[in-house]
Amino acid sequence: MKSKESFYITTPIYYVNDIPHLGTAYCTVAADVLARFERLMGKDVHFLTGTDEHGEKIQEAAAKLGKSPQEFTDQVAETFRSTWKKMGITFDDFIRTTEERHKKVVIHLIKKAMSQGDIYLGNYEGWYCVPDESFWTDSQLVNGKCPNCGRDVKKIKEENYFFKVSKFTGQLLNHIEANPTFILPESKKNEVVAFIKEGVRDVSVSRTSFNWGIPFPSDAEAKSSHHVIYVWFDALINYVSALSPLDKPETFKKYWGTESAPRTIHLLGKDILRFHAVYWPCFLLSVGLPLPKRIFATGWWTIEGQKMSKSLGNTVEPLAFTAQYGQDAFRLFLFREFPMGQDGDFNIKNFKERSNADLANNLGNLVSRSFNLIQKNLEGIIQAPLSNSEIQTTIDTAATQFNFNAMETFSYNEVLKSIFAILLGMNKYIDTKAPWTLAKDPAKKEELKSVLYSVAEGLRIASLFLWPFIPYTCEEIQNRLGQSSLQDVLTDKISFQEAVKWGSMKEATIKMGGPLFPRLQ
Ligand code: MSP
Repeated sequence: MKSKESFYITTPIYYVNDIPHLGTAYCTVAADVLARFERLMGKDVHFLTGTDEHGEKIQEAAAKLGKSPQEFTDQVAETFRSTWKKMGITFDDFIRTTEERHKKVVIHLIKKAMSQGDIYLGNYEGWYCVPDESFWTDSQLVNGKCPNCGRDVKKIKEENYFFKVSKFTGQLLNHIEANPTFILPESKKNEVVAFIKEGVRDVSVSRTSFNWGIPFPSDAEAKSSHHVIYVWFDALINYVSALSPLDKPETFKKYWGTESAPRTIHLLGKDILRFHAVYWPCFLLSVGLPLPKRIFATGWWTIEGQKMSKSLGNTVEPLAFTAQYGQDAFRLFLFREFPMGQDGDFNIKNFKERSNADLANNLGNLVSRSFNLIQKNLEGIIQAPLSNSEIQTTIDTAATQFNFNAMETFSYNEVLKSIFAILLGMNKYIDTKAPWTLAKDPAKKEELKSVLYSVAEGLRIASLFLWPFIPYTCEEIQNRLGQSSLQDVLTDKISFQEAVKWGSMKEATIKMGGPLFPRLQ
């Protein structure tokens, strides 16, 4: 068998001072969609998520609860892992930065950068935003607050090690220019380029005023013996450490990729793009590792027009929400309305309207009416007709001309728009063909069979394209249709291209079932 192309997708690792919310669920579900899609494409997918457990913020959060940081992080990391599991997120690995496998790679790479002469000892004096774990200068503050999150900053003065970012920014700019889809969306790429061109200051890679972190490799020059690795460098390295480069160099190379064939896709929110698109690539250049293939920054969600915040108490808790409305309705809404690079508003009225329009009225109705007709008129049997139908060409063309590239550049809303338009077209096709009238005329039996077969076949094909987005529903549709094409693709029995070919539906007896989606009031 031909060896599979490898594919590596990562989410940010989440701070454990908070439990999963809409923002973290968004990135995680988005990565899950692409991981599922690439598996359908026959790739060997490695999907990584995890938790970011060190740093001042976590130490403070644990202390507030009277817990040791380790006890605290153990508990919250488990909440993240189990939440994603319950939400059907198909991650292959879950990394925690307190794990030994992570720490040893962090130490190894920091030492490597030191041996390259890219890390030096100095003193930092300036502002620090604990919630964002980020350093700011006087001139960067906005009204005395953190320019990223608007929260209070504090003045710090401490001995720090610094990383020579500036040594690599020229090389990085060339790379960005030569690889137009390295940073997406375009508008965010332009911001990154402008930021680099202004001149990037060297960044701290250690902290000394607290101790919850990975001890910095000892260095005779340091005056303070309490250096811990700055949480952002600790955290970014998770993408490498999870692939065990020291113990399994082949696995690492397979998923991480090489300079000429990069495999890694980092998905993250716009607020942390600088860390991923500037500091991280420069660090990789320093330690001699290939750059990722793509860094995509998502927009942010507001809730009912307001900034989501704990103090406003308006956060959407994904487990509770999906328990009430279903996993697929939630997943669909995340990507259907807004392009992923733009901000969106999570608004219950829109959510219900969207679910009703796409899921209850369009897809759900299509399934229920076509199944009823097949059951009533064809004894529940779907069988290939003798002649083609008009809708065949529409669906066939859509399937063969599907913009596969749109998935890897996260144009999910475009993809969804076109699929739901086809489903709407199928509903219209039923209306026009009026199979209930055809059924009254014995001479029209073949035509009736052809119409109903076409709708069933269209549904089978649509369920393959839609599976990454609304997996539970698509599996149910395949099951009710008595088809295994989805399973066959996922177990490499057939390729996706073969599966979506018109006419590959097996003769089967359908299974009737209740409505797929309730109509929401
Ligand atoms: N620990 C760092 C990431 C380290 S990655 C090496 C971190 N964690 S976080 O838990 O604060 O945030 C994780 C992600 O959630 C970020 O991508 C952020 O953009 C996203 N979101 C948090 N709130 C959000 C919204 N309201 N809307 C959309 N995404 C948001 O940063």
